[in-house]
Amino acid sequence: MNIVILSRSPALYSTQSIYKAATMRGHFVQIIDHMYCDLSIDKGAFKVFYNGYELRSIHAVIPRIGATATDYGSYVVRHFEQMGVYSVLKAESLLKARDKFTSLQILAKNNIPIPDTATTNFTEDLDGFIDMFADHPLIIKLLNSTHGEGVIKSESPKVSITLLEAFLKLKHKILIQEYIKESSGTDIRAFVVGDKVVAAMERIAQNGEFRSNLHRGAVSKIVNLTNEEISIAKKSARVLGLQVAGVDILRSDRGPLVIEVNASPGLEGIETTTNINIARSIISLVERNSKYKL
Ligand SMILES: Nc1ncnc2c1ncn2[C@@H]1O[C@H](COP(=O)(O)OP(=O)(O)O)[C@@H](O)[C@H]1O
Ligand SMILES: [Mg+2]
Repeated sequence: MNIVILSRSPALYSTQSIYKAATMRGHFVQIIDHMYCDLSIDKGAFKVFYNGYELRSIHAVIPRIGATATDYGSYVVRHFEQMGVYSVLKAESLLKARDKFTSLQILAKNNIPIPDTATTNFTEDLDGFIDMFADHPLIIKLLNSTHGEGVIKSESPKVSITLLEAFLKLKHKILIQEYIKESSGTDIRAFVVGDKVVAAMERIAQNGEFRSNLHRGAVSKIVNLTNEEISIAKKSARVLGLQVAGVDILRSDRGPLVIEVNASPGLEGIETTTNINIARSIISLVERNSKYKL
């Protein structure tokens, strides 16, 4: 099969891992930087060009689209979809998952438990907005951030209002969220491929830090998920239309709460923590779903 991995860097662990798993199965694999693809609609025909060459006879694409490339990346993915190429990640699902508020709306609409969450777009009555939440600390998040970089714990209403004013003046989209204190700097990453949770890990934040992202220095270990957590993780991926997803879950006093669903979840942390070859599962998914018959 002719497989394209859309990735900004061939050197990244995740890209390498998927590349190796695909070549081990005898596939021809190209790593293509989506930011350098030209897209044309030529008398109704969708064409993708890379370094001046038209990409033809591609059987499947595996997009690895980072947060800084969401918009253009989604154009590239949608183009491949229009060409009838199987894509592990659909453009519409990428866009839904990337916006934290949109994805929480979709999760909640489908009865998936999430922390209490709110958003606003104007600064005139931030007191009233903050009052929707009885308690501090509360969490303020930038909607398009990753790696814990835009996630803030605010200890007082005064600080919350000042931060919200600043972000809204800068035209940043934000949400506020109930702080789940009993999760105490620990979350669960459940990795979904197809209709299965193929691996899961617990991430424990560094001392003095509440964010349990590995990029923020958290440590990780293997965790056994409850049946409820497994079914919530699978359903979260399904309602967002994701076939590969990293579902982040907080263990709260009222049960598991989903905080976000990652559309291009990294493989390094989860593969090295669990010793599970997730890239291999992704290639099996491609083999099952592509129209190309082996
Ligand atoms: N509502 C919350 N209560 C407690 N901790 C939270 C909450 N939301 C996020 N966190 C912590 O912050 C981390 C990053 O938040 P997340 O929403 O996953 O954003 P990012 O996309 O930056 O990873 C989470 O892994 C978790 O440890
Ligand atoms: Mg996260």
